[in-house]
Amino acid sequence: MARVLVVGAGLTGGLCAALLLRLRGRMRVAVWEAARGPGGRMNTSRDPHDSNCTADLGAQYITATPYFAEKHQSFYEELVSRGVLKPLLGSVEGITIKDEGICNYVAPRGISSIVKYYLSDSDVLYNRHVTRINLKEGKLEVCCDSGPAEMFDAVVLTMPVPQMLKLQGDMKTLISESQRQRLEAVRFSSRFALALFYEAGTRIDEPWAAKYIVDNPCIRFISIDSKKRSSESPEVGPSVVVHTTVQFGAENVDKEKGDVEPLILEQLQKVLPALPKPTSIKCHKWRFSQVTEAVSSEPGQMTLSIQPLLVVGGDSFTHSNFDGCVESALAVLNVFKCHF
Ligand SMILES: Cc1cc2nc3c(=O)[nH]c(=O)nc-3n(C[C@H](O)[C@H](O)[C@H](O)COP(=O)(O)OP(=O)(O)OC[C@H]3O[C@@H](n4cnc5c(N)ncnc54)[C@H](O)[C@@H]3O)c2cc1C
Ligand SMILES: *[C@@H]1O[C@H](CO)[C@@H](O)[C@H](O)[C@H]1NC(C)=O
Ligand SMILES: *[C@@H]1O[C@H](CO)[C@@H](O)[C@H](O)[C@H]1NC(C)=O
Repeated sequence: MARVLVVGAGLTGGLCAALLLRLRGRMRVAVWEAARGPGGRMNTSRDPHDSNCTADLGAQYITATPYFAEKHQSFYEELVSRGVLKPLLGSVEGITIKDEGICNYVAPRGISSIVKYYLSDSDVLYNRHVTRINLKEGKLEVCCDSGPAEMFDAVVLTMPVPQMLKLQGDMKTLISESQRQRLEAVRFSSRFALALFYEAGTRIDEPWAAKYIVDNPCIRFISIDSKKRSSESPEVGPSVVVHTTVQFGAENVDKEKGDVEPLILEQLQKVLPALPKPTSIKCHKWRFSQVTEAVSSEPGQMTLSIQPLLVVGGDSFTHSNFDGCVESALAVLNVFKCHF
């Protein structure tokens, strides 16, 4: 049986693993993830004082345009029927796409629950940061910074392309010159995210669940996360998420998050002066937030090697949202269907 490795337990990696498993029996699928949990940019972070109080630090909600609602109907239906997605009920002020026929969904158990759902039947190893890939005896030898190297018949890489290009070993010879040029042209925006956690019973008096801010140089988006997800309860405190503007992200991307956190809090005080004092704060730097220049020539994936099979996917080959990841995972799946 072919041994397949999916690198990355974000949405694309989770989908690839689930779709490959659904092909049934023809391959064994493993997932290696550098972080200590699933989600990637679909990160749901916990309050250090109350693990029931959570906040979505990356992706906020899933927006289905009429085109993708139909194209990916089976994916939406499956997630809604399992209760992983529910329609967004709270109001979002200043929402950018206001179109009839657009449907917004939230994940009541946190956005990472989407990825967890897809990974539920997979063998996932966390804290496995892949550092190099070598060609050995017709297979791919994958090395990580913890644990021994292992051999695979096929590998799918799903991290943002700029991170993929840092992999060592035989990657240099596996990527052709013209592929390298297209991969090196990929660009991402950067953003900081802040999660503010509150004690149970704290009231946050705003009429909206989320709001796009248009007149602040630092802050672009604020969500009262518990309200956005309609997961408010008297036992668990509310949480607030703040995203910075693309420009602020670009200007501060090389700073430490500890140095940037006070700058964001100072601006937040101006935008929402009545916000109560949180019990804890987490700051996160998304160096690779959303793709601004995707690989356009390759729809959804790029095949670096056919024998052994080495495929790169992820939103770097489509666009940065749920449907972009589904498109990529389906393109990866097609390569495997032709191959195995
Ligand atoms: C601030 C922000 C807001 C967003 N808002 C939305 C939104 O509202 N709606 C929406 O649909 N999308 C949104 N997005 C985009 C969405 O989150 C992404 O498009 C999607 O999560 C990308 O999934 P992915 O699996 O392709 O990549 P990632 O989620 O980046 O997954 C890649 C995984 O690979 C792991 N990895 C990296 N390098 C290695 C290595 N060497 N070895 C092992 N593992 C490795 C990473 O830890 C990560 O878990 C947002 C993104 C951000 C950052
Ligand atoms: C999510 O983000 C938090 C805050 O930066 C981090 O501590 C945690 O490890 C992340 N989780 C995953 C699974 O990447
Ligand atoms: C979290 O919620 C669960 C179920 O509602 C409960 O059993 C548990 O005690 C809560 N944990 C904390 C830290 O409050």
